[in-house]
Amino acid sequence: MEEILRVEGLSKSFGGIEAVKDVSFSVYRGEVLGLIGPNGSGKTTLVNLVTGLIKPDSGKVVYKGEDITGLKPHVIANKGIARTFQQTKHFPYLPTIANVLVPSMSPRGRRDGSPLEKALESLVFTGLLAEADVPAGRLTHYQLKLLELARVMALSPELVFLDEVFGGLSPSEIEKVMELLEYLNKGRGMTLVVIEHKLRYLMRMADRVVVLSYGRKIFEGKPEEAVKHKEVIEAYLGRGVFT
Ligand SMILES: Nc1ncnc2c1ncn2[C@@H]1O[C@H](COP(=O)(O)OP(=O)(O)OP(=O)(O)O)[C@@H](O)[C@H]1O
Ligand SMILES: [Mg+2]
Repeated sequence: MEEILRVEGLSKSFGGIEAVKDVSFSVYRGEVLGLIGPNGSGKTTLVNLVTGLIKPDSGKVVYKGEDITGLKPHVIANKGIARTFQQTKHFPYLPTIANVLVPSMSPRGRRDGSPLEKALESLVFTGLLAEADVPAGRLTHYQLKLLELARVMALSPELVFLDEVFGGLSPSEIEKVMELLEYLNKGRGMTLVVIEHKLRYLMRMADRVVVLSYGRKIFEGKPEEAVKHKEVIEAYLGRGVFT
């Protein structure tokens, strides 16, 4: 298995809160890795550290053998790492298609292929083509989640962090998003790190899971073993995430 990303002893505190504490793990090319943990366990902070939004207090991030720790977000993005945001981000007054185009047409961005062609293809793929000229501010919550995926797809990344893409979606919408993710992974060869706090969705799609609790890694392995693991069960106790 080829390692695409490795985090080593990554730590980040905010004031007195140790949001991420000495976390190490690898991501292998082609896999779907679940990154799970209760609210506030450090999932989003970890993604922010890897994608350069914030700098770690200590530890490093290695992407395809290169130390990328502390590089600027656009530099990291150009290397082929993309992410979606838990709180979806969009320009409400710009048409949907422009929202997909903006990151892939950035003068500092990487160019491979025609941005317009890729944007159109991404809209078709996510089912948003009919919304292409509608201001993004008029999209539903589900459509905004699809917009996040369309934007990622248009960037043709190798590694994608998906921060709670299922959040606030109905069961049938979750099924559709899962199908799209499966296509990105199997059809487009993208390596996916899927962040969720509900285990049951990841049980179906993840090859492996990493579990965080209070900023620390408490488990790494097969999802079906995670649900039997004592510390994981304790971390989730009473939170209803297994249902
Ligand atoms: N910018 C910040 N300033 C201060 N504290 C922060 C900041 N970002 C995160 N934290 C704190 O760090 C901890 C980890 O937060 P984080 O958002 O990474 O968790 P999470 O696992 O993504 O949670 P959720 O499931 O709710 O999205 C929390 O205690 C949070 O309040
Ligand atoms: Mg989060």
